[in-house]
Amino acid sequence: MLQNAARLVDLAPEVVSFRDAVLYGLARTPKSIPPMYFYDAKGSALFEAICRLPEYYPTRAETAILQRHASDIAGRIGPAAHLIEYGSGGLQKVRPLLVALEAPVAYAPVDISAEHLEAAAQRLATEYPALEVTAIVADYSRPFSVPTPQRPARTRAALFLGSTIGNFAPDEALSFLRQAARRLAGGGCLLLGADLRKDPARLHAAYNDAAGVTAEFNLNLLTRINRELGGSFDLAAFAHYAFYNPGLSRIEMHLISRRAQRVSVAGRSFCFSEGESLHTENSYKFTVEGMQDVARRAGFEPEDVWFDEERLFSLHLLRAA
Ligand code: AVI
Repeated sequence: MLQNAARLVDLAPEVVSFRDAVLYGLARTPKSIPPMYFYDAKGSALFEAICRLPEYYPTRAETAILQRHASDIAGRIGPAAHLIEYGSGGLQKVRPLLVALEAPVAYAPVDISAEHLEAAAQRLATEYPALEVTAIVADYSRPFSVPTPQRPARTRAALFLGSTIGNFAPDEALSFLRQAARRLAGGGCLLLGADLRKDPARLHAAYNDAAGVTAEFNLNLLTRINRELGGSFDLAAFAHYAFYNPGLSRIEMHLISRRAQRVSVAGRSFCFSEGESLHTENSYKFTVEGMQDVARRAGFEPEDVWFDEERLFSLHLLRAA
């Protein structure tokens, strides 16, 4: 018997954009680079290690919610669904749902990093012989198309887990949700993970782990620039700096220049003064009402929300009009 094979659609999202984004971001004041570029092979592996850290609660909290409420969620999604997962990573988060869903037709994981996607998609296809698995390499913050499954689906559902929505600026989050609402129009639903506002000390610890994995993840961006764009960053000359900004309800991650220095990237030269920041990530923290409000403005009707026992994290079921 033929084994179920996953299909890979590579929309080649970053060949030009990484170079452009880095050169543009280093020329600005203050300097910044979008967080999507953390995720080369090493960055993706470091992020998976972050998810296992004792201080980094979001993954564990969200997994607990998914496991506990999988059958409720599956009931809301309905039978014979076509699932799309934005930022699917190692394809672990979808598993409790695949077990609970009634006869899902197709699953399309979408990720910026091709590295692990194809192998993980193939493993999943082998485990679920009736599921059409199409892995898509794309920058999901921009419009992209998802192939229609060969067998007709009764409904469409999208997953955007891990609070990756928090890595977008508020206007980007709104436009991402609007795009998702258009894709799901006519009664499809979005399952959205959103990290909640909480004690700043808890947040601070999650982004300043004792083992230094988050620092390594942050600094790996410079390693990637050195390798892919002929950069001359000296990693020892930059420090990981992450803090909670209560006014903006977000963790900010920066790389701080330990001294005045000049760095070249792709043949261009950039000056850093001592203490100057390269802003690498924001991670917004939400209230339930705040998240539902943005969802409504994007064209969704909030239908349900689930929490972990400590109420650290929220999982929203949003229905597209
Ligand atoms: C992927 N994203 C939701 C993570 C976050 O918490 O914002 C990325 C991360 N950055 C540092 N630690 C984890």
